[in-house]
Amino acid sequence: MVDFGSQLTQLLARRLREEQVYCEVTTPSKAIEEARRTQAKALILSGGPASVYDADAPKASRELVELGIPILGVCYGMQWMAHTLGGQVVPSSHREYGRAEIRAEGGGGKLLAGVGETTVVWMSHGDRVERLPEGFVVYARSASCPAAVAGDPARKLYAVQFHPEVTHTVEGRQILRNFLFGVCALRGDYRVESFVEQTVANIRELVGSGSVVMGLSGGVDSSVAALLIHRAIGKRLHCVFVDNGLLRLGEREQVERTFGGAFEMDLHVVDASRRFLSALAGVTEPERKRKIIGREFIDVFAEAARQFKDAHFLGQGTLYPDVIESVSAFGGPTAKIKSHHNVGGLPDDLQFELVEPLRWSFKDEVRAVGRALGLPSAVVDRQPFPGPGLAVRCPGEITHKRLELLRRADNIVTTEIEAAGAHRGLWQYFVVLLPVQSVGVMGDHRTYEEVCSIRAVTSDDGMTADWAALPHDLLARISNRIVNEVRGINRVLLDITSKPPGTIEWE
Ligand code: XMP
Repeated sequence: MVDFGSQLTQLLARRLREEQVYCEVTTPSKAIEEARRTQAKALILSGGPASVYDADAPKASRELVELGIPILGVCYGMQWMAHTLGGQVVPSSHREYGRAEIRAEGGGGKLLAGVGETTVVWMSHGDRVERLPEGFVVYARSASCPAAVAGDPARKLYAVQFHPEVTHTVEGRQILRNFLFGVCALRGDYRVESFVEQTVANIRELVGSGSVVMGLSGGVDSSVAALLIHRAIGKRLHCVFVDNGLLRLGEREQVERTFGGAFEMDLHVVDASRRFLSALAGVTEPERKRKIIGREFIDVFAEAARQFKDAHFLGQGTLYPDVIESVSAFGGPTAKIKSHHNVGGLPDDLQFELVEPLRWSFKDEVRAVGRALGLPSAVVDRQPFPGPGLAVRCPGEITHKRLELLRRADNIVTTEIEAAGAHRGLWQYFVVLLPVQSVGVMGDHRTYEEVCSIRAVTSDDGMTADWAALPHDLLARISNRIVNEVRGINRVLLDITSKPPGTIEWE
């Protein structure tokens, strides 16, 4: 799939996987090279915000349309294809955005097979194709778009002016299926097992007889990526787990048990908690905390990585949404809202080639791969845990003592929520320790102790979130246990703020 910069490219790629069709996304400039290298069986040209007449409009090689493989152009992809093949694209008198009805012509051709004669689609375009290239016929039009669906069946080139990938396009799935199976005759036999097999073979080819070093965090992404690399090259994968002192209760032990133990990986645990905590001493400003943690992590990881002199590769659990988030469609960096904590910026003497087996995968697919590889549910279904760890849940000064309180309270929250089965459907559930002390009574004594808040949210992707309404008896149990069992916390609050305006973490 060629990404012309649409925000919907990711969704389009996902739709293909849902049809069990494997796809890789590439930039317009690399498309021809990638199509040849991967021997692509079909191409999809995504939408994009530009006009083909813009000076800086994304350009792909004309050779793409001469490869002889079926192509589906979507929105800008349609316009680029029409323009490239000698058709005419003109600015519309008005931007067409939103719901539109299209009406099929001449039976609708292969692309509209089984689709209603009129059907509702989602449009988003300024320009439109006025004159189609030679060989193309119109298969459907809308009130303001004379060529809403068009194609040249002899060359297997098809195009739609709307977005079949969004659910507002009522029969979008059928239209995509028609292209994938009706036009391209793809098999749709892409399974998790094929992914594992293919990925393992790719890693072997890339790494050859070399070895890979990788930071393992215990999260789903790095765990699954490590397992794939481990399956490909065994002990030539050296995993480094950094204990930064900001982990949850029992987290390090679980990683040791699972990866060093059950999977027999070459796991190196570095206990750097003292170092992190002393670097964080006295720091209260959230972004400074993040910077310090990022810097310390790089230093500790670099030190550990240097001992593997034969390792020229760095394994990473980068997912497709991370790729999209950090690199805009044409290779430029997009604005970052806050500094995210990932391995990057390693010193110059540590130059690695990257091994990123999940670069084209989505989170739910990664989980499926993890299950197929025998990863326990405690890892596969684990809630997201941020790179800077408990630091973003400990506003105010981070001390060993405060972290201990936080860890124990957090453990009560997670255990109780999971025991009640209330974790299903939650995105995250944890405890935040507030930079506040409050007065309480305990028996005959007055106490002056720390305050914590329960944070439990539902979310699809962490970008927006709602606070979760946990059952009262569960909340009561949690509150009781925390104040009774965690000496040093005498008050428990419940965070009932959605995102926006709040964030999920407190920082
Ligand atoms: P916020 O607090 O911004 O968090 O609403 C959104 C989601 O991102 C996670 N998060 C991070 N994950 N590194 C990560 O890997 C980070 O630095 C980081 N900061 C926040 C957070 O847990 C939530 O799921």
